[in-house]
Amino acid sequence: MARTPKSALSLLLVSSFILGAMVSLCSSCPTSCETEIVWTLYARQIGKGDNRNQEQAVPPVNNITKFGEIVVNNWAVLDAPVPTANIVAHARGTHMMAGDWFTSLSIVFEGARFNGSTLQVMGITDAQGQWAIVGGTGELARADGTIKHKIVPPTPTTSINENYRQLDIHAFYSPPAVNANFIADV
Ligand SMILES: *[C@@H]1O[C@H](CO)[C@@H](O)[C@H](O)[C@H]1NC(C)=O
Ligand SMILES: *[C@@H]1O[C@H](CO)[C@@H](O)[C@H](O)[C@H]1NC(C)=O
Repeated sequence: MARTPKSALSLLLVSSFILGAMVSLCSSCPTSCETEIVWTLYARQIGKGDNRNQEQAVPPVNNITKFGEIVVNNWAVLDAPVPTANIVAHARGTHMMAGDWFTSLSIVFEGARFNGSTLQVMGITDAQGQWAIVGGTGELARADGTIKHKIVPPTPTTSINENYRQLDIHAFYSPPAVNANFIADV
């Protein structure tokens, strides 16, 4: 019977070891952990032709300044600035001429990384600039950060109807908390 306390003790030691590991994993953020994303992608913007992925939805009230024009876009987001690159997301939303092109987008990821998760993005679209990441969904929940964007110089594979816009994504997000089996509850 002398073994009982011993086993109880080793069980206790094992338990506190597991507990210690859990505490060190999760002590700084008990429900979810903030994660950083740094990723350069390229939005393919095709303004004209049969493959165009943006379309005027509301004509301008002033044909010279274009003020009031609203264009709806569904830009493919690629892992390289060439037509044969992999599509990793689509940038879906609108841009409207309000002095500058004010842009409001959901970047909807597809494929192996972040499938189905989104970044919510807004800001001014000039040849280059910065958009704000104001939120996210799925694995990218609670995202905030910026996307530096700029048109990359055309290459021989770039058609005259299109631009590749480099997106330097930098954000912090909090994937949903893991459950008791350490599986993210997306
Ligand atoms: C702008 O130009 C289009 C096409 O030429 C024309 O149909 C439209 O009436 C013009 N709009 C204004 C506000 O002048
Ligand atoms: C992404 O999610 C969709 C919808 O749930 C699914 O059909 C597809 O197989 C997923 N793709 C990958 C690569 O996991």
